[in-house]
Order: sequence, then structure tokens, then C-alpha cells
Amino acid sequence: MKKLSSNQIRNMWLDFFKSKQHYFLEPASLVPIDDPSLLWINSGVATLKPYFDGRMNPPAPRLTNSQKSIRTNDIENVGVTARHQTMFEMLGNFSIGDYFKKEAIHMAWELLTSKEWFDMDPNLLYITVFEEDVDAYDIWTKEIGIKEDHIFKGTRDTNFWDVGQGPCGPNTEIFFDRGEKWDLENIGPRLLKDDIENDRYIEIWNIVFSQFNNDGNNNYAELPRKNIDTGAGLERMVSIFQETPTNFETDLFMPTIQKIEQMCDSKFKYSIDNYFNENPEQTKINTAFKVIADHIRAVTFAISDGVFPGNKDRGYIIRRLIRRSSVYGRKLGINKAFLFELVDNVIEAMSQFYPYIIDKKDTVKEVIQIEENRFLQTLSKGYEHLENIIQKEKTVSGKNALLLFESFGFPIELTKEIAEDLNVEVDVKAYEQLLEQAKEVARNSRKDDKAWNKQSAILTSLSVESEFTGYETEENETEINFMFKDDKEISTSSDEIVFLTLKQTPFYAEKGGQAADNGVLVDENGVNHQVLDVQQGPNKQHIHKVHVNGTLSVGQKVSAKINSEKRYYTMKNHSGTHLLQAGIREVLGENAVQAGSYNDENGLRIDISFNRMPVQEEVDAIHASVKREIENAIPREIIYCTLEEAIEVHNALALFTEKYGELVRIIKFGTYSCELCGGTHVASSKDVEDIYITEIESKGSGVYRFHAVTSHKEVSSFLQEQFAKQKHEIQPAIDKFNKAKFIIENKEIENAIGEIMNMPVLRENLPKIKIKVNEFKNAFKLYQKATEEVMVEEKLKNYKNYEPVEQDGVKVLEIKTTDLEMKEMKALSDYYQNKFDSLVVKLINTELKIYIVSSSENISKTHSAIEIFKSTSEFSVKGGGNPTFAQGKIL
Ligand code: ALA
Repeated sequence: MKKLSSNQIRNMWLDFFKSKQHYFLEPASLVPIDDPSLLWINSGVATLKPYFDGRMNPPAPRLTNSQKSIRTNDIENVGVTARHQTMFEMLGNFSIGDYFKKEAIHMAWELLTSKEWFDMDPNLLYITVFEEDVDAYDIWTKEIGIKEDHIFKGTRDTNFWDVGQGPCGPNTEIFFDRGEKWDLENIGPRLLKDDIENDRYIEIWNIVFSQFNNDGNNNYAELPRKNIDTGAGLERMVSIFQETPTNFETDLFMPTIQKIEQMCDSKFKYSIDNYFNENPEQTKINTAFKVIADHIRAVTFAISDGVFPGNKDRGYIIRRLIRRSSVYGRKLGINKAFLFELVDNVIEAMSQFYPYIIDKKDTVKEVIQIEENRFLQTLSKGYEHLENIIQKEKTVSGKNALLLFESFGFPIELTKEIAEDLNVEVDVKAYEQLLEQAKEVARNSRKDDKAWNKQSAILTSLSVESEFTGYETEENETEINFMFKDDKEISTSSDEIVFLTLKQTPFYAEKGGQAADNGVLVDENGVNHQVLDVQQGPNKQHIHKVHVNGTLSVGQKVSAKINSEKRYYTMKNHSGTHLLQAGIREVLGENAVQAGSYNDENGLRIDISFNRMPVQEEVDAIHASVKREIENAIPREIIYCTLEEAIEVHNALALFTEKYGELVRIIKFGTYSCELCGGTHVASSKDVEDIYITEIESKGSGVYRFHAVTSHKEVSSFLQEQFAKQKHEIQPAIDKFNKAKFIIENKEIENAIGEIMNMPVLRENLPKIKIKVNEFKNAFKLYQKATEEVMVEEKLKNYKNYEPVEQDGVKVLEIKTTDLEMKEMKALSDYYQNKFDSLVVKLINTELKIYIVSSSENISKTHSAIEIFKSTSEFSVKGGGNPTFAQGKIL
């Protein structure tokens, strides 16, 4: 077997097909363009659908590529099986109405077996064909000489390529036999015949005879032309040449795996030998290495193509991959954000063919690091909880899985994997049912009911004590004094979600725009019962929504403990809300009236009624005002007084209907801010640390929603993300500029790039970078137009010195090219038509197989361009035109 690197294999494939007149297509983005049927580009042909179904003409009828693709239907298998990858590369050759079965099969055989190319032993190659495809069978057996024991007939399931929407048709597959070493029971070709998963016969190439188009509803229409679509997975091809057990020990992944080994201080090592001498512990370790090496590669490429971690669609998949890798990192003893450091290794392995990822490095690293850090914060809490559950119950019920998902953002896949690792079952079915029910409840219940009815008779008449201690403390010993479920009072409950009240509670109930606390009730046995949410009942008792872990009863003593980190950030955001509200009024005036607000641990928002969207200068002034007051370190005062006093003496803002005569609570930051408020607040304005308005959104009817974050940590994460996004957006233009600047210099654009890329991540620079990016985009548009013209001129220069020859009494000029596109050929024809009076111009591109003819007006009657075009004897053509101009294709 030839020893080839992944880069050599890819190059050899492309070179072979280029030598067979295939036009090389640069790899396309992982994000499909104008194709809502696909979340990701999932095969080489996915980028070529418009050529296949006839919507667009390809640049040439024969194409070749190596296309990065993502398939996410079985992420759980990645790292477990030998050959599943999230992102993989598909080598391909395509014919659009050009060659069909015969040539496709002959070319495949030549590339695989010829000494000059892959040089595989023909005896080691096996073939499958679709049972009804007699033509393919005959080509293989009669023309190529495949013996009958090396070819098998498959069914529609195995030998018909159809992915639901797009081009499809019967296929033929080529397998490589790696020998008995990979078939320990020596089963032989039956593995192949019976389609048994194995590591001996590796499918290396799928050749699809694309004849139909599936409209997405299994209506098959004959394609306008017969096409060839082929795909060969690069990773498995590399694994064959490098004789590795799985795709992961190849030069594509090993550098990353070795770097991970270093990161876990070599406490864990990847073992290739484990394939033959399997040890279950080592298998788990290998899986962790493989998962991380696979995911970081997919994530690096996806972010480079503009997909950022998020909550839906592609963004969610990237988030999931980062989370999953992070969990596997913990299994290898790595307890910090580490994934971003592997980006260099991905770049090292992949940048020869994908040089653009080098420029994306900083953005990619930044985005991954921020995302991973965020995840680690919630992960450690969820982990602890899951471990508790497993220790106690030796199984994870649907309810617990749902709890983990709802309160810790633990996706079910993660719960499953962690549990599986400890040989513990997860009741996924029950989880799914409960999730569906929960969604149903959410859909049906009014949002603020929080799953119980505030009008319910038991609550309106409820008179138990429920003292709020949360202004002074985060934890207190207390007693459960009331419990209910489904609007019915109960005295005891086990393993379910119930509502209960406590004699004294440190848990803040959601009100006045402040989110509820969450946390735990710890019973006498030290068991934690999660408090998921807290709402105020009609008689002001705090109603705790609790996931009972075991049993809880009325009268039982518990220690009630809030999640202090959530409270800590919520307090910063609540005080930030008051300060921002004061800043807005200072800058926009008394007309800016608050119409609601909300704050939790992640940020804050205030709705302001105002007659227009504030302008940037006003936003800057609001920032400056609030920052000044934060720096002034104003102590927070809490005053209880009557409403009259609050308004008259303290000038308090009483926003919502409070009853006169009642004692109210006011929160005051000096003379800057004074509001009636029942919330929890930081002790000094300085504790808010920082504030940044991240967005102002128009809600219609003159209401503007200000979103903001506080604290150094959150402001800085936000800014970093925004800067990364801005830089990322113009990266494709920068790449183009870097290529073109050798033809036309442009100092202004060059400086603008430098300025954008080096702009320090500072709050005051965010509007600046946005303006600069816009300026750059406009300047680049003009630049691109100008360079294109110059580039065409440059190219045409070489063709402008031809002299026509006399033929049949007229001047004829014939030029053969390989590098001019249709547009350029037309420009060249115009050039000569202007230069000479009576002239016939024939231009042929032998590579792209295009042909044009033009004829000067004054001779077009006798020497009609369209006639000359059609009657060319050298080759047959297809196209159209008129007496002065004709264009078309060489068949
Ligand atoms: N489009 C075919 C595949 O992905 C070649 O297998």
C-alpha cells in the first residue's frame, strides 16, 4: 500500500479528475445557500443541486471537489464507532449531462488501481450494484473484469441513493478489503453480502447514477440530463492508506489527540492497541479523545463559516458539540476551558487545503472560550445534582432528567452519556413524555400562573405564616407548613414536583421585575430537594415549586438555602435597573416613563415609553451618567415609610399602583435614584461594577426595550463576542482583498483592515468598529468592481495581438483559450470587432467547452455568425444566436 498523507490523497484525487478535464470547485461553506431543506451541507452534491436539477448551468459539465460536510443525525455514535464523524470531507467527481455509467466506472477503477495513482490491489476491491441495474453489473463484470465473487447485488435500501430531497438514483459502491487482521472471526465477504457493520470491508466510494429529482415528497421526476454524483469519504480513505484501526489515528486527528494528552498531563493516554486488546476502561478513555478531536474540528469549521453557538438550529448544534466536548474533557480530568487551545491543531492538520481558517483563528478561539466558560459554570452544579441522583437511586427517572434539563440546562443527551458511563439507565421515554406534557402545560397555562391557579380556593384562604428572611440571609432552618399539588392540599409527597410554603424563607418570589431565587431544601438526612421556582400567592406567602427527591412532609424541618450566585448577579442587575432608569430619565427627561422591567442573573431590561428611538449620543450620555454614579460608590439605603412620605420627602418614583397609607419600602442611591421596591439590592452602587446597554428594541406603540448587562465579567464577555462577530463578518472580504492587493494596492482599505483587526476590545470602540466595518464594506465593494475590471484587462492583454487571416474572402480570427470565461470571451470579441471593419471572430474555450462566434454587421448577411457557429465541422455544438453573434457549448 502506498503511504500517503491526507493532503496527498486529497491532491491526488483532485489531480486525477483535473487530468480528466474536470473543473475544480473550491469547497463551499457548511451553511447551505438558498436551500431551506438542509441545515448543513451534508455531501459534495448538496452544493451542486441547482446544476443537477437544471436551475443553473455549471461552470463546466465535469466537476470535481473535496467538500466539507456535516451530518448530525447520530452525534451519539461519534467517538463510539470507528468511522462516524460530525464533520467529514467528501471527495467527489460529477458529470452534468456529460459522461454516465461507463466512464464513471472506468475512471473510478483507473484512479483506484493504476500504479500512477492510488495503486490499490484490484483483488482487494469489492463492488455492490443495485439489483435492477443490469448496465452497471455488465460494465463491472464484462468491461472491468470483476469476478462474480467480488460483486454483489443490493436492494433499494442499500444501493439507491435518495436523501428525501434533491438528485437521486441507483448507485454502485466500491469496498476495500483490509484483510483478516480487521475481521477477527474471519467471516469474510459475507460481512459485505449481508451488510454487517465491520472494519474489514470499508466502503470507499459511492457512485450515484443520478437520474431523478425527489421533490421532497417522494415524487420522482426524470432529471433534464443524466448525471453522475460520486462521494468518497476522505477520512476513511486516509485510514486505509495509513492502515489505522479507525479514522481517528490518522494524520487528520492524531495531532489534536496528542495535544489533549498533554493537556491532561499524560494522566490519560489514547491507546491504538486497545482496538485489538480491548479494555472497557480504556475504550471509554479513547472515546473521550475521539469525541473531542471530532467536535473541535467541526466547531472550528462551523464558526469559521459564521455559525455561532446559540439556542436554535445550527447554533444549537455548535453549542451542543462544545458542551459535549467539555463534558468529555472532564472525563479526562481537564476541569477548565480547554477546547479553544485545540484550534491550533485543527488548523495545522487542515489549513493546507483550507488556508482561510488561519485568518479565523482568533475569532474561533474567542467564541469557543466564552461559550465553554459559560457552560462550565452551570455544568458543575448539574453534575453534582446528577451524581446525587445516581448515587441514591441507581437510575435516572424521566422526572429527574427533566429537572436536570429545566434547571441546569443539561441536554438529555448529556444526561444519557454520563449515566451510561456509570452503567445507569435513563428513562428517556418518560423524559420525552414529561417534556411534551411540560410544553403542553406551558402552552395552555397563562405564563404568570406558573402552573398553579392564583385564584384557587385553597390559596385565597391560606393563612399560614411565611416570613421572608431573604433580605438578611441566604439560608435558614425552618419547617414546611403547607403543601399542595393540582390545587389540592397534601401532607406528604415523594419523587414529584409539588408546591409548598415555609415558615421562614430566604427565597425571593418573582415580583417587581426581579426573578425568583432558586436553590435547595436540605432535609435532616442531608438530601437536597431542588427549589425550581418561587411565586407569591394571593396572601403573600412565598409558594416554592419543589422537586422532591425522596420524601417531604408537612411539619418536616428543612434547611432552606438559596443559590447565592444567581442571587448575587440578580442583585447587581436589579440595582443596575434602578440606576439605568435614573440615567434614562436624566438624559431623555421626565417624558421617558418606565413601562415594566425584568432582571435576573443574566441581565436586565427596562421598557420605556418614549416618543422616539434614542440616538447614539443619548445612549452614550446614559452610559456616562450611570457609570459616574457607580464610580461614586453611593451607599444603598432602605427606608420604610408611608407612600405620602416616600413621594413628598424622598421624591420616590412610584411607578405602579400602591395604596396610600400603607407602609412602603424604598430603595435609594443618594439623590440619583429612589424607587419603591421590594427587591434585593447590592449595598453600594459600586457593586454593580459596570453597565452596558446591549440593545434597544422597539416594541411598537412608542415602547422601547432597553437590554443591558452589568458587572465587569458580563460586560466584557458581551464586548468580546460583539467584536468577534464584527471581524468575522468581513473576513471573506478581507480574504479576497489579500489575494487581490497584489494587483491593485489600496492603502485606505489596507489601513481600515489593520484598524478593525487591532481595535482594542473596549466599550467605547464598539460603535466605532461597527462604523469602520460599514465603511470598509462600502469601500471594498467599489474596490472589488475596479479590481475585477483590471483583472479582466490583464487576462485579455495576452489575447490582443492576434492577426486575422483571410478565409473565403473575409478576415477570420480564431483563438483557442483555456482560461477565459464567457463574459471575457465576449469582451475580447467586442475588442476585435472594434479594431477591424469586416471580421469573423471565433473563440473557443477548450477547458470549459464554450464557443462563441461574432460577425461584423456589414458581412453578417453573407457570413452569419449563427450559421458559422452551427456549421463548425471540428466539433458538435449546442447553442443559439443571430447573424452577428452566436454562443453555446461544445458537446
Ligand atoms: N452523494 C453521494 C453520497 O453522499 C455520492 O454518498
